[in-house]
Amino acid sequence: MKTMAIIGAQWGDEGKGKITDLLAEKSDLVVRYQGGHNAGHTIWVNGKKTVLHVIPSGVLHSSCTSVIGHGVVLEPENFLHELNKIKHITNISPENLKISSTATVITQFHKLLDGVRESQGPEKIGTTGKGIGPAYEDKISRRGIKVKDLLDKDTLMRRLGVGYSEKAILFKHLYHIDIPAIEDEVERLYKLGQEMKDYICDTFSLIDKSLSEGKKILYEGAQGILLDIDYGTYPYVTSSSTSSSGIYSGAGIPHHQLDEVIGVAKAYTTRVGEGPFPTELFDEIGQTIQLKGNEVGATTGRKRRCGWLDIPLLRYAIKCSQLSSIALTKLDILSNLSELKVCYAYEVNGKRVDCAYPGINLYQAKPLFKEFTPFKDDFSDSKTSKELDQYLSFIQESLGIPISIYAYGPDRQQVIFKKKLF
Ligand code: IMP
Repeated sequence: MKTMAIIGAQWGDEGKGKITDLLAEKSDLVVRYQGGHNAGHTIWVNGKKTVLHVIPSGVLHSSCTSVIGHGVVLEPENFLHELNKIKHITNISPENLKISSTATVITQFHKLLDGVRESQGPEKIGTTGKGIGPAYEDKISRRGIKVKDLLDKDTLMRRLGVGYSEKAILFKHLYHIDIPAIEDEVERLYKLGQEMKDYICDTFSLIDKSLSEGKKILYEGAQGILLDIDYGTYPYVTSSSTSSSGIYSGAGIPHHQLDEVIGVAKAYTTRVGEGPFPTELFDEIGQTIQLKGNEVGATTGRKRRCGWLDIPLLRYAIKCSQLSSIALTKLDILSNLSELKVCYAYEVNGKRVDCAYPGINLYQAKPLFKEFTPFKDDFSDSKTSKELDQYLSFIQESLGIPISIYAYGPDRQQVIFKKKLF
């Protein structure tokens, strides 16, 4: 096995950082291929918490090279801040951290636009407010700024100028806010580019060479398949391809097959921001899961909405990304609950629905639950109780793919591998 992907199989926050960190130890390269600092990957090592936003979770292993691919949107100030923070805990240098010269830059204008749209716009998405959507908009409309543009003031001025007059009118006459002068933004970005320049390179060639040398490459997704711009619950999605298709376009491996695609799913479901959520819990159990699971956004500090595991949504995620196995996380949070349920199908307009295809109106989906005897495992050894086994077997059989990893706590050790990976 030479190539593997870690992808969120729900609405993000599934624990991808922990799984990537575990498998990064055996990888030569860890590559982020989409999203930006809207992600928050929390990793615990020896009881110490590290939150990574745009830097790949492989960075905690100095033997592996971390790559920010061209499908990522990068906010330079945030990147440097994150870099300085983690320099205190791990060896990090331009040798083991690379940024694609053709990744897209998030500017002040993108952040401001994201913020005013959320506060004044006609439809609230519940974004992270980091400028992600507006930066991808500019990329697609061919007005974006690439990381390599940061290294030349004239190019920066020309590229920023392409969309500036239009944006200036929008901010002044529609949203009534002041924006920085273009010259100030050029100076700011140029300065940041100088601080980043040693990390910038042609990551396509790096990945291409590594593949031909038979190196082990791990692709790390951010957010989750249900937030994918095409496959997700539109419009309540992020603006990138979070599914496996994003790897082919955002990292640069169009001619390669992935050997393993692990979908990471919590043993329950969470969501932040707006949008449908069929199994959402509004009762005491939901509150217990939220508190016990510390379900608070690592990037925004928002409380996450919580609900039971949703099999129809996972079946859809498996199809969208050709998932070959599931890493089931946060099992410990469900231990000792007073009740335990799994949604195995929906009822929509009187008909049973097994897979959350896009044609299904999730607002009208009534979840059908199977109840289980709650398990009380404390995971102090690698044995699992009869009750937990029943719960896990049901999930595995319902999904039709193996559960390759069980995770039952935040630390590196709190995990059971059921399949040899890398
Ligand atoms: P944006 O990515 O900031 O544009 O936000 C769009 C939607 O994706 C909102 O519902 C956010 O809450 C959600 N979102 C973005 N990043 C994450 C994440 O890392 N975890 C969970 N939800 C996210």
